[in-house]
Amino acid sequence: MKYNFNKIIKRSGTNCFKWDLAPAVFKNGDVLPMWVADMDFKSPPEVIAALKSRCAHGIYGYGARPDSYYESFINWAKKRYDFNIKKEEIIFSPGIVPALSLCVAAFTLKGDGVIIQPPVYPPFAGVVKDHGRKILENNLKLIDGRYEMDFTDLEIKAKSGAKMMFLCAPHNPAGRVWSQSELERVLDICLKYNILLVSDEIHADIVYSGSRHICPASLSKKASGNIVTLMSPSKTFNITGLSISSAVISNEKLRETFNSHVERFHIGLTNIFGITAFEAAYNFGEPWLESLLGYLEGNRDYALDYIARKIPAISAIKPESTFLMWLDFQKLKMKQDKLNEFIINKARLGLNDGASFGAAGMGFMRLNFACPRGILVEGLKRLENAINNTDK
Ligand SMILES: Cc1ncc(COP(=O)(O)O)c(C=O)c1O
Repeated sequence: MKYNFNKIIKRSGTNCFKWDLAPAVFKNGDVLPMWVADMDFKSPPEVIAALKSRCAHGIYGYGARPDSYYESFINWAKKRYDFNIKKEEIIFSPGIVPALSLCVAAFTLKGDGVIIQPPVYPPFAGVVKDHGRKILENNLKLIDGRYEMDFTDLEIKAKSGAKMMFLCAPHNPAGRVWSQSELERVLDICLKYNILLVSDEIHADIVYSGSRHICPASLSKKASGNIVTLMSPSKTFNITGLSISSAVISNEKLRETFNSHVERFHIGLTNIFGITAFEAAYNFGEPWLESLLGYLEGNRDYALDYIARKIPAISAIKPESTFLMWLDFQKLKMKQDKLNEFIINKARLGLNDGASFGAAGMGFMRLNFACPRGILVEGLKRLENAINNTDK
């Protein structure tokens, strides 16, 4: 194997959110951290080499994004998603969550409704609340172990004063890669009711066999004029700590409004290491990514099989995308605080609390399987022992 994803690399003591904060967050120094959505793997060697070379220069003053930076992303989006982007449509953002927050500030007013689809990544609700806007929950439906959109309810929410919709595509934590027909129905409803669609595609590159990510903005000119697409190499190449991502806005008027907010908050300057990593990842990271996807799919299938055979008291939603597994503990009939306490202190695992993804996440927990197989096996064993030895 060219890339050794099995190698366990110590992350404690590296100012690492996932590992260094776990003892304090879970109030237990013995938990295995399988929470925050980054990976326990090194970035592609080409990214590391580019960063080392930039680091060796020794001067770390203000940076500027060169044309080659934009070209690397334009080529990636074209090659992988047949999504045609022009340079002027790309706006830098230090992160996807800051961009979501900026969209709320730029395109809605106090009291306006923003549609989200719980259970969903917690900051979707967070940024709407932070700005004093109204959350309109269009819950996903769990049908035969797979999440689907509820279009009847979506239309009801759309009619009820929604100005914006946050689409999570692919969806965290449901793991769904939305089909073309699902995306077209969302787009039709947004256009019909004059709702701006903000499409968070941070997980687009992590998609498993049998599924294909489609950028909603690539589907038609009319659609793209009503969409803010958010993309990033951060999850894909494990560079979330370098604070670099992109908003793509083809509608000039929307772009100017968004840009005016970037300027108002003075957040348009990019971290110089971010620029270097972004370009190296998009230009040279593809073979590494293909290899990573094979490894992650192996981890996913290992975990699904393990849970089905050895921990039948719970069930796992099969992710078509993302390195996150949504675990259903409802059959254990535990209250959420008891479930959390059980996972932390009995299973000794640091997972994400399902309730933080909205009321629709009650009875669930999220497990990150982007780790060497040995860590995953240890995590699953801990879960198995805790559940099978518990008196319910
Ligand atoms: C759907 C989704 N959006 C955004 C983010 C975070 O983006 P950023 O770190 O660029 O703000 C995550 C991280 O888990 C995510 O799952």
